[in-house]
Amino acid sequence: FQVPTAINEPVKSYAPGTPEREEVLATYKSMYNSSVDVPLYINGEEIRTGDTGTMSPPHDHKHSLGTYHKAEQQHIQKAIDTALEAREKWANLAWEQRAAIFLRAAELIAGPYRAKINAATMLAQSKNIFQAEIDAACEFIDFLRFNVEFMTQIYEDQPDSTSGAWNRLEYRPLEGFVYAITPFNFTAIAGNLPASAALMGNTVVWKPSDSQIYSAKVIVDIFKEAGVPDGVINVVYGDPVMITDTVLASPDFAGIHFTGSTHVFKDIWAKIGTNIHNYKTYPRIVGETGGKDFIVAHPSANAKQVATGIARGAFEFQGQKCSAASRAYIPKSLWADVEKFLKADIKSFKMGSPEDMGNFITAVIHEGSFDKLAKFIDQAKEDDGATIIAGGGYDKSEGYFIEPTVILAEDPKYTTMCTELFGPVITIYVYDDNKWEETLTLVDQTSEYALTGAIFSTDRYAAAEATKALQNAAGNFYINDKPTGAVVGQQPFGGARASGTNDKAGSYLNLLRWVSPRTIKETF
Ligand code: ALA
Repeated sequence: FQVPTAINEPVKSYAPGTPEREEVLATYKSMYNSSVDVPLYINGEEIRTGDTGTMSPPHDHKHSLGTYHKAEQQHIQKAIDTALEAREKWANLAWEQRAAIFLRAAELIAGPYRAKINAATMLAQSKNIFQAEIDAACEFIDFLRFNVEFMTQIYEDQPDSTSGAWNRLEYRPLEGFVYAITPFNFTAIAGNLPASAALMGNTVVWKPSDSQIYSAKVIVDIFKEAGVPDGVINVVYGDPVMITDTVLASPDFAGIHFTGSTHVFKDIWAKIGTNIHNYKTYPRIVGETGGKDFIVAHPSANAKQVATGIARGAFEFQGQKCSAASRAYIPKSLWADVEKFLKADIKSFKMGSPEDMGNFITAVIHEGSFDKLAKFIDQAKEDDGATIIAGGGYDKSEGYFIEPTVILAEDPKYTTMCTELFGPVITIYVYDDNKWEETLTLVDQTSEYALTGAIFSTDRYAAAEATKALQNAAGNFYINDKPTGAVVGQQPFGGARASGTNDKAGSYLNLLRWVSPRTIKETF
């Protein structure tokens, strides 16, 4: 079970004058100036239905990057049939062969495809290059490399055979096919959700987010070049309800690997329940959904550190991370300093197209998201109990730009303290220093979601108290750091409550969901 030791891919700097900066800028420009036509990929065939949608950069929405083709129901059925036909050969391929394909994909991203996948992520998802590099290059490479280690860790876990019989666990793939639904906000997650299930021997029907199809196409090209056989990962887009209903109606539906919104995941769960008598096996349901992630500062905290945690946790990636900080609780004694440092940080953030590498903030993903954020900002401007102390501006004339915005709320249950917004907006509640314990209780009670959270404290007793009091309020808990930026192999990622099934992406726990082990006892 020796495999290449996985190490986290070093992040390139893209500093002025570096070759990687020149290369990614040239790639960005040439991709911006060309047009692509993205087909469905079923059994390795490119299918063009003629019913097309347009792809545009969120920061430049009048510009077209090209078109993609929407599936009809017959195409979804074909994708399912193909996945089932491809399954036997793929499942029976030695694990080393499957591993080699995905390790090769990692090397392709690390080398020849790095500029292309980063530029695609900058164009389609409006990430600046530093964010694209962390996501589309490093995290994606990490998932692919570490998954192979996690896989062998699973295969090596064998039962005791000391009493004479030979007991073995055979880690079979699921019986049927896996459905992957992936989000716009991470190219790495888009690639990992189908790839991790496939690595364990499953075949997949993959529906990327409509807002991510442009970079999904680059992933498809990489997987193909790496040697993923036809039919193993089939890619479809179009009406999400039709696609999901068709997939869930199949008796061979064996599992879903989902990242997206809470309400869509709950609807899918309910539909699986309705169909349960039709399935050959209980489907695996693995989902990472929303978040309303918190930062809590203790009076002993370092104000500068708290401010940096808020600025980076809330505004990096335009706040479009399920892990992004979107509510903070700051003691009165610390607030003046935190406010001063936070405003200075925000003032230094430039906003605009990712093509200008000096821009820290770019556009939010689409008009729906922009309108929702603008509505909450307007509401805060009107509400007596809320004050906007930074940002509050927005403009969608060219791109969907929302200024990094800080709302100060008098009521810790104010709407934006509790509602997931998924954008560069954070709401802060300033609490009385003598209400530390009550504040911890409040945070827990208002955590409908439980994905990430951070506590800042130099007092170890207080840090320990918060860690205990908030043990169910976050699946990823940070002490003296922002609540974002989990690294594969280092901080397994996922949360419970309305945030998902907590099957820890970036660890063997996730891969375990994609096998259905058989126990074999042999006597001699
Ligand atoms: N894994 C990503 C993070 O932790 C979402 O920020």
